[in-house]
Amino acid sequence: MRKVAVIGGDGVGPEVIGAAMRTVEATGAVMDTLPAKMGLDCHRINGSYLPEETIEILDEADACLFGAITTPSDPDYRSPVIGVRKRYELYANLRPIQRISPDIGLLDLDLMIFRENTEGMYTGEEVYDGNSVLLSRRVSEPACRRLIRFAIDWAEREGRERITCVHKANVLRKSDGLFRQIFFEEVNSSSLRGEEMLVDACAAYMITDPRALDCIVTLNLYGDILSDEGAALIGGLGLAPSANIGDSKALFEPVHGSAPNIAGRGIANPVAAMLSAAMMLRYLEMEEEAKTLERSISIAIGNGKRTPDLGGDLGTEAFTDEIVRIIEGLNH
Ligand code: NAI
Ligand code: MG
Repeated sequence: MRKVAVIGGDGVGPEVIGAAMRTVEATGAVMDTLPAKMGLDCHRINGSYLPEETIEILDEADACLFGAITTPSDPDYRSPVIGVRKRYELYANLRPIQRISPDIGLLDLDLMIFRENTEGMYTGEEVYDGNSVLLSRRVSEPACRRLIRFAIDWAEREGRERITCVHKANVLRKSDGLFRQIFFEEVNSSSLRGEEMLVDACAAYMITDPRALDCIVTLNLYGDILSDEGAALIGGLGLAPSANIGDSKALFEPVHGSAPNIAGRGIANPVAAMLSAAMMLRYLEMEEEAKTLERSISIAIGNGKRTPDLGGDLGTEAFTDEIVRIIEGLNH
């Protein structure tokens, strides 16, 4: 049986992951779930942001469903999420930006963002010499190539036609220049039309001409920023899922953080976590269960069942009850 580590984390994390797991169970998906702890609350209790027991569970699991954690103010803090992405070489960060309903959000986007997930600006190697801070930003040939190949393979499999390399190689000539060069080497031997766009222009195109974009493959920080912009355009962070995929393991999480401003109030939108869980089911080859979960979300939202971030009046529990009811109806 496939093993899934389940980590709620901090703030709204446990609320939305608990809700997502209820819907996963309702689909009838069979898996061995392994609960684990990570983050700030875990540090308060266990003295570690990422305890050894959690690493053992992650080592054993095929996949992980993760909520979010709160970043403490400690300047020496190293994010355990980034640590996990690096430890298991979860090099491809997939962030689908898709509007679920025409009356939500601002624009009709259906875009897949592939973000490099192991290096770039996220090396964490910052050195302060008393006067200035120097950051080592790494862009390596193998990391670029494996992400770009992953993105091209995915786009070809999904019948997409175009893929856009987003970079800033006009300024960062060697680093982003390397990413761009590898992109064209790989895309020219694929069936896709390869295009390129500077990241600042891309941020504008996402608003003015979203049809110019189909799939984006980009470096770490640019992907982070463009995916939040995309999420805002399709109705907000409460709707945006993501996957972190490596060669032997994957972690699925909403794009949003721990949302301390609404934590504990029972009003967090669990859709981003549920859509992340659907991506996980698909990764675990439970395609039917993934589709059922995605369909039930579209039906509920289409019927006006919504949490307050989307202008509705349902709390997390009541919205989840609705999804579970729809799944049970679809499965009969
Ligand atoms: P955030 O994504 O937690 O919240 C931004 C805004 O979106 C807030 O107004 C929040 O209420 C709203 N929001 C987020 N998720 C929502 C949901 N499911 N339903 C309804 N509204 C939702 O970003 P913020 O406030 O910048 O960060 C809060 C904490 O989360 C920080 O400590 C940050 O470092 C951490 N964080 C952790 C991440 C992770 O663990 N992967 C990712 C991003 C941030
Ligand atoms: Mg982010």
